[in-house]
Amino acid sequence: MSTQTPTGPKPAPENQGPAIQGHKYDGIREYDNPMPGWWVWLFIACIVFSPIYILAVHQFDFINTYEEDLAQSQADLNEIREVYAASAPSFQTDARSLQDYAADPLNAAAGAETYATICAACHGDVGQGLIGPNLTDEFWINGGSEEDIYLNIAEGVPANGMPAWNTSLSEVEMASAMAFVVSLSGTNPPGAKEPQGEPYTGR
Ligand code: HEC
Repeated sequence: MSTQTPTGPKPAPENQGPAIQGHKYDGIREYDNPMPGWWVWLFIACIVFSPIYILAVHQFDFINTYEEDLAQSQADLNEIREVYAASAPSFQTDARSLQDYAADPLNAAAGAETYATICAACHGDVGQGLIGPNLTDEFWINGGSEEDIYLNIAEGVPANGMPAWNTSLSEVEMASAMAFVVSLSGTNPPGAKEPQGEPYTGR
């Protein structure tokens, strides 16, 4: 059986436009079929919509540009951040807050490590006093309130050999060291250094 390439336009089957004359290669013929109706309508709808969209965005400001959407989202985010910052205030170091802070044993426990690492060298491993004064008795050279102790740690008394720690420790770290020092009060360790300063009876 010999295969013969058909010549001339093939009769169009149903739903098919006529073969386009001359559009033929290797026996493959091109037909003039219309696009499906839904596709054509979608195409027309896009063309009709685009000038409306352009005018709505650029002329009548009816639809936001991406830049406007971004600016709006950033403003919303800043608002959320402000509300959050107002409801979760940063660390407070006034007398009252420091008192509350020291009253929580968890905060004192958090300061134990700082104390062991940097304070014990001068104040003794249990606060009994070495080069620095005894921190376990009720006598204080520079005041024994939570605020006094905090300020002593933060600003130090450089002239008397107590370094300032506010350049190397955060407020929270200094407050937890303060809470730990407060927790040493009355522990009465063996070999404690003699009392120095005035008694503090505020606790
Ligand atoms: C280099 C030694 C040294 C180190 C380290 C040191 N201190 Fe002191 N500290 C001193 C000396 C000395 C004094 C006494 C200051 C004075 O006579 O005014 C002092 C005083 C204090 C006081 C006041 C005591 C009082 O009787 O009024 C507190 C509280 C204190 N230190 C806590 C700390 C804490 C907490 C740390 C660790 C973060 C620390 N110190 C680290 C040497 C030191």
